Amino acid sequence: MSELSGRTTIVVGASRGLGHGIATAFAEAGAPVVAVARTAAEFAVPANGSGTIQQEVADAGDATVAAGLIDRHQPQTIVLVAGAIPHMLPLQEQTWETFSVNWESDVRIAFHWLRAALLAPLPPGSRVVVVSSGAAMNPTGSPLSGGYAGAKAAQRFITGYAQGEAKQAGLDITFTTVMPRFAPETGVGEAAVAAYAAKSGMSVPDFLRAQGPLLNPEIAGAAMVELAQADAAELAPAYMLFGKGLKELP
Ligand SMILES: NC(=O)c1ccc[n+]([C@@H]2O[C@H](COP(=O)([O-])OP(=O)(O)OC[C@H]3O[C@@H](n4cnc5c(N)ncnc54)[C@H](OP(=O)(O)O)[C@@H]3O)[C@@H](O)[C@H]2O)c1
Repeated sequence: MSELSGRTTIVVGASRGLGHGIATAFAEAGAPVVAVARTAAEFAVPANGSGTIQQEVADAGDATVAAGLIDRHQPQTIVLVAGAIPHMLPLQEQTWETFSVNWESDVRIAFHWLRAALLAPLPPGSRVVVVSSGAAMNPTGSPLSGGYAGAKAAQRFITGYAQGEAKQAGLDITFTTVMPRFAPETGVGEAAVAAYAAKSGMSVPDFLRAQGPLLNPEIAGAAMVELAQADAAELAPAYMLFGKGLKELP
């Protein structure tokens, strides 16, 4: 188990949703946290540990932001959670602009931050976790979310590319993809649940009952802290994240 109190953790996309829960959990586990989003947020004072939360208001998709924040804060852990809420429409009702929104946000953010982590480079022993989506594992993708499932699959691919480049360069940096299932309380999950419940002719509560234990920001936070504290040698390249926790993917 690694100690988090000496490891600055940047959480990208921390103002709301899963990222807010993840930033809070790292701070409660004792980490100095840098919470990045385009808007400032309220955070409770960390309850159980000596961690802190410092906010950075920035567009994480801006080409210069990742390198600048890595240089300023010297993180040893980076968790990329930020992403756009997809336009929940069938294919024929999308425009290219609505279809590509997650490519222009989620993939762009992963591209700039993974690149910056390699170029800095982050110090030996560092961890980078990219939050993709369980939608990228569905054989049929996510038919009501435009380019979402493909964008989230691309995030998993480029996280693997970053791991390959790190190994080849002898950098001791671990890159991991986490693929959550529905978290209905947060922005992306709320929109998806409403659309898929309507498509199946179910009420939202009935639809959610059929999903089993549901993910929320607290569970996501605990799972990310668990990953950051695990021995790097024991980490898988990718995990699914359910309401009952992480499940390793081959
Ligand atoms: N919720 C689910 O069911 C679910 C399932 C699978 C995967 N995921 C993935 O999990 C992640 C979080 O989802 P969520 O439901 O928690 O989303 P959310 O509630 O909509 O929160 C998204 C967060 O990302 C930030 N963000 C977005 N664009 C940004 C940018 N350009 N720069 C900086 N911050 C940015 C937002 O802050 P600002 O708007 O203030 O910038 C916000 O803090 C997403 O990548 C999503 O695809 C979610």
